[in-house]
Amino acid sequence: MRLSTLGSALVGLAVAQASTINYTTVTGYFLQDEESTDPTTFDYTAENFGLIGRAYPADKEHKKHGSLTQWERFYHQVTKLNEHSPKHVEYKVLFLGRHGEGWHNAAESYYGTPAWNCYWSELNGNSTASWADADLTPGGISQALKANEFWQKEINEQRIHAPDHYYVSPMTRALKTANLTFTGLDMPKHSAAFKPTVKELFREGISVHTCDHRRSRSYIHDLFPHWPIEHGFTEEDELWNGVTAESSGAQDVRSAQALGDVFFTSSKKKPFVSITSHSGEISSILRVIGHRTFKLSTGAVIPVLVKAEKVDEEPATSSVPWEVSPHCTEPPVTSVTACVCPSSAVPVTTPLATGFWDDF
Ligand SMILES: *[C@@H]1O[C@H](CO)[C@@H](O)[C@H](O)[C@H]1NC(C)=O
Ligand SMILES: *[C@@H]1O[C@H](CO)[C@@H](O)[C@H](O)[C@H]1NC(C)=O
Ligand SMILES: *[C@@H]1O[C@H](CO)[C@@H](O)[C@H](O)[C@H]1NC(C)=O
Repeated sequence: MRLSTLGSALVGLAVAQASTINYTTVTGYFLQDEESTDPTTFDYTAENFGLIGRAYPADKEHKKHGSLTQWERFYHQVTKLNEHSPKHVEYKVLFLGRHGEGWHNAAESYYGTPAWNCYWSELNGNSTASWADADLTPGGISQALKANEFWQKEINEQRIHAPDHYYVSPMTRALKTANLTFTGLDMPKHSAAFKPTVKELFREGISVHTCDHRRSRSYIHDLFPHWPIEHGFTEEDELWNGVTAESSGAQDVRSAQALGDVFFTSSKKKPFVSITSHSGEISSILRVIGHRTFKLSTGAVIPVLVKAEKVDEEPATSSVPWEVSPHCTEPPVTSVTACVCPSSAVPVTTPLATGFWDDF
């Protein structure tokens, strides 16, 4: 997906193989799947992660089910679904976690979305905050620690099965959120160690915003030396170019590609997977798996039961164009809903001259 041709109206192509795996969200298990649940007020920590209190077909296969918690019975149900499914079908429970608040989130609130999108987001920061590959704010750290506390509560009270695999986006805010969420938990016996795989394609939708420009592989390795970084991960960010933005169609193609590395690559007996990612990327994953739209607030987590089925289709090669992002070269008129540059200047599509790397 290296972007090299720049200059025309539609520049840069995301070229990837479309998935030959058909994903579906299995509904009836989580409140977040139900139209009646309002994403804007839903608190996953107040609702047992959203797991609906109900009986499962697999309950009767388990003599002691009366003494088991909802999460234990759910785990058992998922195990049975996998045991009774053919080889080309797999069920997994994805815990999709959005990073805690970063300085770019704070800046978008501070400047307002139109001004943020058409000017401020293209800078590395202001005189007091930096938001290129943004770090967590103190509030963002608290949100990640709240997730940590909630996992511990679920482990203690629900004896929830801890994730069998962990993945994390390479952006600093996601790396730090995953670390704070899963470090220091008193895990159940035989749980997988928390060693998340850093995976390029779980990063946020790639816009011209500097918060979508990742740091180098060496930086990530130095920050978390014991975490595996996926094979083929490049030293420098080769996807961000500061001129064109990945369209949501292009993003869905690469989200499907990322999920293709998660499904059918490990035992069906390891069905719980944690993915620490971003608002836009989690929305994209939800589209790929056929889940309804469910916007997460910073630091929130959504579990989804996904059925993946290998389908007998030639992998289509799709090529989805990226889009240019016009912006102002000076702080815009902010009292409007769209991007209006001062003195009626025409928005430009060339990158602002900011030495991104000079700041690191
Ligand atoms: C994918 O799954 C959906 C829902 O189960 C089904 O309607 C569709 O036909 C499937 N597509 C293929 C190619 O099998
Ligand atoms: C810089 O942006 C942050 C939000 O990221 C905001 O809190 C702060 O007040 C801004 N500083 C200045 C000098 O405007
Ligand atoms: C990782 O999390 C631990 C536990 O909360 C914390 O002490 C440590 O500073 C974190 N590391 C980084 C690099 O943020």
